[in-house]
Amino acid sequence: MKIVIVNGPNLNLLGEREPEIYGHDSLQDVERFIAQNDEARGLELHFFQSNHEGAIIDYLHAHRKSAAGVVINPGGLTHYSVALRDAISGCQVPTVEVHLSDVHAREEFRKVSMVTDVCLAQISGKGKHGYIEALKMLKAHVDAPVSS
Ligand code: DQA
Repeated sequence: MKIVIVNGPNLNLLGEREPEIYGHDSLQDVERFIAQNDEARGLELHFFQSNHEGAIIDYLHAHRKSAAGVVINPGGLTHYSVALRDAISGCQVPTVEVHLSDVHAREEFRKVSMVTDVCLAQISGKGKHGYIEALKMLKAHVDAPVSS
């Protein structure tokens, strides 16, 4: 079962970027944590990060026929990208939205997500554990699909 794990703009700076909000782990640390977690056993994980909206959309398109699920932290694109939302809904691959921080406890604009209603769920405020929860959700969904 192939799952793609996509991180959007500025998440390449994890560990140095506002560590009081996003923690001290680098993106590489987070990806290693995910890959080594029990929930990842038996999964074929593909990691991707880009600061470019179009590159993320191209990546989702390229994997739409082969991936069983997508975990995406769209970073700032979350709050305004109609194009990313359209890519997620157009690709028709079960997708879970993840945020390291609790976007509902921060600035007003972060409460708005363009992608939540085309995803199975939004997981917010659980740090790197949110990605593991997303993997669990995708596995459960593949076993017993629910409409999104
Ligand atoms: C984020 C939250 C977004 O509002 C922000 O723009 C990010 C990271 C998170 O993981 O908490 O870049 O998606």
